[in-house]
Amino acid sequence: MGKVTLAAAIESMFTRELARVAQETELLLDALLPEVPDNRLRSAMRYATLGGGKRLRPFLVVQSAALFDVSPQHALSAGAALECLHCYSLVHDDLPAMDNDSIRRGRATVHRHFDEATAILAGDSLLTFAFEVLCREATHPKESVRLQLVLELSRAAGESGMAGGQMLDLMAESEPFRTLAAISDMQNRKTGALIRFASEAGAMLAEADRGPLARYGAAIGLAFQISDDVLDVEADPSRLGKATQKDEAKGKATFVEFLGLEGAKREAHRLVEQAIAALAVFGQKADMLRETAGFIVSRRS
Ligand code: IPE
Ligand code: IPE
Ligand code: MG
Ligand code: MG
Ligand code: MG
Repeated sequence: MGKVTLAAAIESMFTRELARVAQETELLLDALLPEVPDNRLRSAMRYATLGGGKRLRPFLVVQSAALFDVSPQHALSAGAALECLHCYSLVHDDLPAMDNDSIRRGRATVHRHFDEATAILAGDSLLTFAFEVLCREATHPKESVRLQLVLELSRAAGESGMAGGQMLDLMAESEPFRTLAAISDMQNRKTGALIRFASEAGAMLAEADRGPLARYGAAIGLAFQISDDVLDVEADPSRLGKATQKDEAKGKATFVEFLGLEGAKREAHRLVEQAIAALAVFGQKADMLRETAGFIVSRRS
């Protein structure tokens, strides 16, 4: 096969694989959170998790696990747990006290569709449910592996990770950052930490060395938020499924603000190269993860 056709074949394999994992994640989340009649909290949890999203984090768990001899079912279970936590972060991120957004994944945000209190509680419940799922034997038969997943996800989600990064994001609205290092720290925490956890999860499930995947995850995690910030400026909101042009209006600290649109794109591409270089030890087995790195900066939604 010529170089161009091979690249096109890998890309279409990637698109199919992303759709497959998204569908399996959807089915598993639906089974983990079945409908309960007249239960407002469960309805909101289902609304927040089902029927949308790229499912990029579960995809990374599944693909990093595929490098090793890990059961796909265990990887899907860990991926679904992480997706619950990610969906909680979106529900709270959209609240009036945070980004005050009305549209997410192409429909009304949880607090708009239900109400604020229900959105807060649905977020709380999804956050805690993530850890419940990680603790189940369906995620891994060994307690020590489950414990490590719980430990690493709590670090990635909490003060040193996502929640801490969100605090910095909000503080920057009134007291702008002055250095690129400060923005990188905020982005690495608010978005990078969960993506890095997703990338390392395969090695954790396999009890293998996490080093190369940690480097890969750190690079794509930062690239992912840069690309989110670029999309806020450039994307078509109906395709993106959320409002655009909001970061500048709200005075958010972004790479785009600091480096300009082209500079931010260059930085994202540099990080993709760095991520791909970290995968060298895995050879061809890591092609899907290489493709994922490229997708992160070429995506339109
Ligand atoms: C959006 O994440 C929030 C950020 C961390 C930038 P995604 O772009 O992965 O959102 P979904 O899950 O596909 O809706
Ligand atoms: C959110 O970043 C990151 C989270 C931890 C949820 P943004 O606030 O830029 O995400 P969007 O653009 O609302 O999806
Ligand atoms: Mg935000
Ligand atoms: Mg937001
Ligand atoms: Mg954004």
